[in-house]
This record gives sequence, structure tokens and C-alpha cells, in this order.
Amino acid sequence: MYAAFRSIGAYVPSRILTNAELEVMVDTSDEWITKRTGIKERHIAAEGETTSDMGVKAAELAIERSGLSKDAIDMIICATISPDYFCMPSTATIIATKLGLNKVMAFDISAACTGFVYALSIAKAFVESGMKKNVLVVGAERLSAITDYTDRGTCILFGDGAGAAIISQTDKQSEAIIDIHTGSDGAYADLLMTPNGGSGSVHDELDREAAGCFMKMKGNETFKVAVRTLTNDVVEILEQNNIPASAITHFVPHQANYRIIKAVGDALQLAEEQVVLTVEKYGNTSGASIPMAINDIYESGRLQEGDLMLLDAFGGGLTWGSALVPFSGKGIR
Ligand code: COA
Repeated sequence: MYAAFRSIGAYVPSRILTNAELEVMVDTSDEWITKRTGIKERHIAAEGETTSDMGVKAAELAIERSGLSKDAIDMIICATISPDYFCMPSTATIIATKLGLNKVMAFDISAACTGFVYALSIAKAFVESGMKKNVLVVGAERLSAITDYTDRGTCILFGDGAGAAIISQTDKQSEAIIDIHTGSDGAYADLLMTPNGGSGSVHDELDREAAGCFMKMKGNETFKVAVRTLTNDVVEILEQNNIPASAITHFVPHQANYRIIKAVGDALQLAEEQVVLTVEKYGNTSGASIPMAINDIYESGRLQEGDLMLLDAFGGGLTWGSALVPFSGKGIR
């Protein structure tokens, strides 16, 4: 049995936060943000709109596009660092219930911006072992809930949104997810961390800044480790699978910073049309960023059945991961 990437969906909240608005909130400029990150705007969830609400919308689209009945889903994994509740219940169980699936195995994983790639590797293992047939993998984030809008080093970067994919059993090797690499190094934990808190926790009456609920980041050090780690990781996964970079149809990196993506793309000597870029309009949406980017190329008609995707992510932990994934759904022409 093999695991196939069958379907994709995403959801983006309608409210847009522009660089011009951030200029009023902190000491920054559109020019600085654009030059250093490539970000022009990011989307922000509406009041009361939770991570699970966004995850459900992405999941409904992915299920519909898969052609499967909802009841065929037998496992849900949610990658998020901004869960509805601090400790429990998991966001995945809330998504399951909102989808009307009350008996499936459902759990969250915490691997920050690498979350979707980690979740994909878990889904692949369950499907290949025959334990599950159709796994819904959701990456959903309400990062605005854990962003300090007085800290110009982080608030310019992050946005909200969700993406979802269906990973299904197949007996066709040509459809199989080829390989997934994952790693972590907790020695760098302090580069990017949230000292406390959770987006939907009961601590809303607390001074969230004082309680350490917001993200703190050593941006410049994170940048350097990100470029080094991501480049090594993609070179290794391609070499180990004997696949030249030219065979990649879509390089879909985690959308953190245009300069990081460009450095990794250049190291692989990728052509511009191979590199998927959404950072300009969504900013960094952590665990949601890769499925949101895949959904973008799907909806624009660029993603077709049989296309080979190279996914690549890096995030707090530190964590990293890459994956070689053929698209096995039907594209839109
Ligand atoms: N607007 C204007 N100036 C800013 C600013 C902002 N939003 N944020 C920082 N600065 C200033 C700094 O204070 C510093 O000023 P100084 O030289 O007077 O001390 C200067 O800009 C350079 O800061 P630095 O942190 O070295 O900038 P940078 O080129 O590294 O860019 C990031 C900052 C955050 C954009 C960049 O480091 C980055 O993207 N890092 C990786 C982030 C990331 O990917 N995180 C998630 C991992 S998944």
C-alpha cells in the first residue's frame, strides 16, 4: 500500500492587514517590510473566528475536491501552534465534531512552521501500514492571537489562515508520496518561542504580554539557521532519491520570508516558475502556509495530476522537514 496526496483545500479570512496599517501601529515602513521579507499584506481572522473554524472551511473544500464521502475520513491530524484551547481539547477533535465526524482518531501536533510536513509524515505512515485509509491533514493558524502588535520584529511577519489535504491509500506506486525527511534541534528553542499561553485559553483576562503569551523571535539568527538548514535538507532529499532539481514541477517552501525562499531556490538552481510564492499576500501562516500555497497553485490551474512537488519547511523548535510529493488529484484546467 502507498500513500497518495489526493486533494487540497484552503481558507483565508477576509480581513486584510496591510503594511500601511502596520506603519501606524509600530515604527516600520512598507519599504522595509517589502525589502526584508517580501510581505505586502496578511489576513487576520474575524473576532470570534477560531483556528478550528478556519480549519473546517479548508477541510470541507479538500473533502469535496477528493470526491470522497465525508464518512470515508478515518483520521484527522491538525498542525497548529495557535490551538483553540491551550491544553485540551485538541483543535483536531473540534474540527472533527464540526465536520460531523464523532468517532475518528483526531489529534494535534506541535511542530510550528514544519507542522504540515510532520503531519504529512504521520499520515503517510498510517496509510502505508494499512491502519488508516483516508487521513485529513489540516494546517490551521490564528497567529494574530499570539502576536504582539507592539513588537515590530514579529508583528509584520505573521497572518491567519488554514489549509487541508487528504492523504489516501493507493496501490499505484506512481501516485505514492516518495519520501519525507523530518528533524529537530531543541538546542535552538530560544530562537523562536511562545513562553506561555494558547489562543483560545481561559486566560483572556490576563495581561497576555506580561504572561509571556506572545511569540518572541531572534529574527536574524533564525534567518541564518533557516537558510542553512533548509538548503541542506532539500539537497539531501533530492540526492537520496536520485531526483534532479529540474524534475520538480513545484517547489513549495514554507512561506516565511522571500529572501529565505530565494536563497534555497538559488542553491537548487530552480527556475522562477518552479518556485511557489504566496508570502507577499499571506505573510507567514506557520503550519497553514504550505497547504495554503498548494491550494493557490491548484486554484490557479497550475497544479495538475502527476506534478511533482518538493515541500520544505522550517520553524520553532527548531524543526525542519521536506517531502517529495506527486499530486494525485485532478487539477483544474
Ligand atoms: N521595521 C523597521 N526596522 C526593523 C523592523 C521593522 N519591522 N524590524 C527590525 N528592524 C530593524 C532592527 O531593529 C535593526 O535595526 P538596527 O540595525 O538599528 O539594530 C535592523 O532593522 C536590522 O534588523 P535585523 O533583525 O538584522 O533584520 P533582518 O534583515 O534579519 O530582518 C527579519 C528581520 C525578522 C525580517 C528576518 O530576520 C527574518 O525574516 N528572519 C527569519 C524569520 C522567520 O523565518 N521566522 C519564522 C521561522 S518559520
